[in-house]
Amino acid sequence: MSTFLDHAATTPVREKALEAYLEALAHLGNPSSVHSHGRETRELLEQAREVLAKAAGCNSAEVIFTSGGTEANNQAIKGFFWQRQDDRPRKYVISALTEHHALIDPIEWLEKHDGAEVLWLPVDKTGQPDIETYKTWLNEFGDEIALVSLMWVNNETGAIWDIPTIASLANQHGIPVHSDAVAAFGHTEISFKTSGLAAMSISGHKLGAPIGVGALIVSRNQKPISLIHGGGQERGLRSGTMNYPHAMSLAKAAELAVADMAEREARLEALRDKLEAEVLTQIPQAIKTISGPRIGHTASFVFPGVQSDSLLFLLDQKGISVSAGSACQAGVLSASHVLLAMGYDQADASAVIRVTLGHTTQAADIELFTSAIAEVYSTALRAGLNR
Ligand SMILES: Cc1ncc(COP(=O)(O)O)c(C=O)c1O
Repeated sequence: MSTFLDHAATTPVREKALEAYLEALAHLGNPSSVHSHGRETRELLEQAREVLAKAAGCNSAEVIFTSGGTEANNQAIKGFFWQRQDDRPRKYVISALTEHHALIDPIEWLEKHDGAEVLWLPVDKTGQPDIETYKTWLNEFGDEIALVSLMWVNNETGAIWDIPTIASLANQHGIPVHSDAVAAFGHTEISFKTSGLAAMSISGHKLGAPIGVGALIVSRNQKPISLIHGGGQERGLRSGTMNYPHAMSLAKAAELAVADMAEREARLEALRDKLEAEVLTQIPQAIKTISGPRIGHTASFVFPGVQSDSLLFLLDQKGISVSAGSACQAGVLSASHVLLAMGYDQADASAVIRVTLGHTTQAADIELFTSAIAEVYSTALRAGLNR
C-alpha cells in the first residue's frame, strides 16, 4: 500500500486534461502561421485562452501563457519593477518572507542587481500579515514603491490572505499589486476581475494539468516590461512559438478544478480535519502551524524534537509521500523559511511536515497516514536522541 499526500507539490494529471493535450498534439501547425494549419492551431489556443479566462475571472486578452508559476512570478516581479522606473525611480518592493522561492528569489535578484530595496512584511504565527505595518509603509513610502507582491494562499501552511483588501490599499496610492495565486487558483474562490490586482500567477500542475505550463494574468491597463524578447507573441510578454497543447490541457484542468471546487474542497476539508484530529490525539505535542483562515486540503504540523527529513524518510519507507514545508530547494531539505518568517525557532522550523490532499485523495489515504505517524514519530525521536 502506498499513498501520495503531497498534492501541493504536484497533483495527478486529470484524465480530460491529458485527453485535451493529446488531441491538440494531433494537430499540426504553428499558431502564428497564416495558412489553414496555423489558423487551426491558433483557434485551439484561443479557445484555451477563453476557457482559462472564464475560470480565472478575467478577460481572455489578459491571459499570458507561460511555462509555469516560476516564470510567471519572474515576469511579474522584474517586469513591473522595470516598468515602474520609467518616469521616476521607485526603489521599494513590498513582499513577505513567507512567499515561495519562485518569488523571493527574483526579488532578491533585483535587490542585488538593480538597486531594489525590499520591505518584507511581518507575518504572525496565525499565518496572517501585519496589515497595520503595510498601511504605514504605503503612507510613508507610497511614491517610491514600485510594486507589491503578496501571495493569495501560502503553499506550505495553507494560509489565505485577503488579497482584494491588500490590493485596494495599494491601489489608492497608484501602486500595482501582483499575487502568486498558484496555491489558490482552482482551490478557493478567486476572481481576477474583482481582485484589484495588476497581475496574478497560476501554475498548471497544481490543478491537474501537466508540469511545464502556467499563466500570468495581466490587467489590460498594465504594460510590464518583457523578460523574453523575440517574435512578440502573447502581447509581447512571452515571445516563443505558442505552446497550444499545454495551453489546452491547462484550460481543461482549470475548468474542471473550478467546476468541482466547492464539492471537492468540502470533501477534502472533512478528510483533513479527521487527519488533524487523529494526529493531535495520538501525538499531543504536535503543533498545527497556523490558526488563521486557511485552505481546506492542507495540514501542516511541527513535530517537536525531530528533524523533518527523518520523518519523511520513515514515512517514505511505509509508502507515504508527504513533504517538509514546500517540495524542496532543488532536493535539499532545510528549515522551513516560511515558519522561520512566522517567528518559529530553527528547531521547530526544521521539524515541520506538510500533508496536502488532492482530487484523487480518499479516506484510505488518510487512514494509512494516521496509522503510521505515531510509530514514525517515536522512531524519529529515538533516532534524534541517539545522534
Ligand atoms: C506558491 C507557488 N508559487 C510558485 C510555484 C512555482 O510554480 P512552477 O512549479 O509551475 O514553476 C510553486 C510550486 O511549487 C508554488 O507552490
